[in-house]
Amino acid sequence: MDLRDRSILLTGAGSGIGRSLALHLADHTPRLTLVGRRAEPLEDVAQLVRARGAQAHVVPADLTEDGVAAGVVAAAQERFGGIDVLVNNAGNVRAGRLEEIGEAEVFAQIALNLTAPILLTRAALPALRASGDGLVVNVSSGIALIGMPFYATYAATKAGVAHFGEALRRELHGEGVHVLNVFPGATSTPMMETSNAGAEHGFDYESPEAVAAATVAGMVDGSLTVVRGGESRAQMIGLNRNDPAAVDQFLAGRKRELEQAVAGHSSL
Ligand SMILES: NC(=O)c1ccc[n+]([C@@H]2O[C@H](COP(=O)([O-])OP(=O)(O)OC[C@H]3O[C@@H](n4cnc5c(N)ncnc54)[C@H](OP(=O)(O)O)[C@@H]3O)[C@@H](O)[C@H]2O)c1
Repeated sequence: MDLRDRSILLTGAGSGIGRSLALHLADHTPRLTLVGRRAEPLEDVAQLVRARGAQAHVVPADLTEDGVAAGVVAAAQERFGGIDVLVNNAGNVRAGRLEEIGEAEVFAQIALNLTAPILLTRAALPALRASGDGLVVNVSSGIALIGMPFYATYAATKAGVAHFGEALRRELHGEGVHVLNVFPGATSTPMMETSNAGAEHGFDYESPEAVAAATVAGMVDGSLTVVRGGESRAQMIGLNRNDPAAVDQFLAGRKRELEQAVAGHSSL
């Protein structure tokens, strides 16, 4: 896909991977609608996007509120006359033992990571179809491919959004709308600031710029998936598919340490 002049609706654009995505996309001079709850970081990103020769429109919105999906889609359409690409990037996390996570924290993760992308995509589909060359990008997680202990709810939401994307890609096959699923590994963003898990726990961090560059490359070349984390991660994904009990054993040896390292990990 040639991204020049495309109308792109990007959620979670004010920080982390979303911010880097906005800047990498800006190099292709699209028209960007930037969504998040806080206006200020979105305005900062919008200035940087404009400095790169692209257009930017800021739409502050909480994507977990009733009726917001339709409003955000309408705002993008009004400003730019349509939508060619929807990037479902906004997400949150709360790690810890399931019985220690509050009911509201379970609902908050499902609402933003799973329900919001489904409702936004549903609301944007008429515009994406009208584009004739539409694209939905779902930012899932490597945890969707290898369920990690103490991330059961987050893993459920990320596997859910990935399967939503795969099913929808097949549903829309031949109808002018493609779906790309992105599976970042551990990435140095504000979301990870409360996690103490490092390489010794199997979390090899990369920069949001690297994830964004790979994602934009996947958008341009029509990829089905972008999987980050390098060769060791790819081997672990293969092992998890072919011999999940071996991964159980591997993680069992690290469980106690991992639990301590991620006990305070929350972006809620
Ligand atoms: N960092 C990692 O290691 C990693 C790994 C795999 C996958 N991911 C995924 O990558 C995506 C981006 O995460 P990130 O790491 O870049 O985290 P981040 O910096 O915390 O970004 C999340 C963004 O979502 C926005 N957001 C949060 N709640 C929202 C709501 N209710 N409505 C609208 N926007 C909301 C936030 O802005 P406001 O607070 O202003 O709303 C923020 O800009 C997420 O889907 C995450 O699950 C991250």
